[in-house]
Amino acid sequence: MLLHILAVGDVVGEGGQDILSRRLREIQEREDIHFTVVNGENASRVGITPRQARGILEAGADVITLGNHTWNRLQIADFLDSDGHILRPANYAGRVPGRGFGVFRGPAGVRIGVLNLMGRLELNSNLDSPFQAADRLLRGAPCDVVLVDFHAEATSEKGAMAWYLDGRAQAVWGTHTHVPTADCQLLPKGTGFVTDLGMTGPYRSVLGIRPEHSMNLFLGGLPRRYEEAEGPCKLEACRFTIDTEKKRCVEVRRADLWE
Ligand code: FE2
Repeated sequence: MLLHILAVGDVVGEGGQDILSRRLREIQEREDIHFTVVNGENASRVGITPRQARGILEAGADVITLGNHTWNRLQIADFLDSDGHILRPANYAGRVPGRGFGVFRGPAGVRIGVLNLMGRLELNSNLDSPFQAADRLLRGAPCDVVLVDFHAEATSEKGAMAWYLDGRAQAVWGTHTHVPTADCQLLPKGTGFVTDLGMTGPYRSVLGIRPEHSMNLFLGGLPRRYEEAEGPCKLEACRFTIDTEKKRCVEVRRADLWE
């Protein structure tokens, strides 16, 4: 079958959660989506609470992925253990709650593996290698297709991961930068890839944050708490179409919505 996956970029703050809850099901219907993965690590601006995670799942997400702000709202720790529909990066070094890889039921019994990884370049050098973590978790994994959210800063690291997993994952997308990229592509062995999905949140902003707060930082002002911007929002996402018999992605394209 042709399996349509929707991958939704980092949900930022109240605005991001609001547009997701109002518009996600409409996009899923329009794009004939079977399975949806949403990056939720900025729901609290930094981090996510159990209430916010439930809200994203109720909005229509099948799986929530996270990133470098996973532990900024520590109350999520128990939820990561108790709820199977939320993943944190698999390559955290040491002993932390939750899991970074899960297998979920799709239509017609298709087993969909979802892997959440985090980059090290310019982000967190204390992590285990995301490349070795992928090797370890995907070897013999009981699933028919594999989707990977690689939460990373550097475009080079994201590209390298996509090529490294070409033929082993059917979809690899980047998150974290909040800026969508225009490089949707199919790699030779069947992996669909985009460097970054972008962001779900207020677009009159700097990455979702009030512009004056970001400018203040770069002008050398006193550090202050970042606040979420106000105003209209966008929902940035990509649709991956996967041929489950051939285990190849056959199309990847943007599916963004601006209000
Ligand atoms: Fe991030």
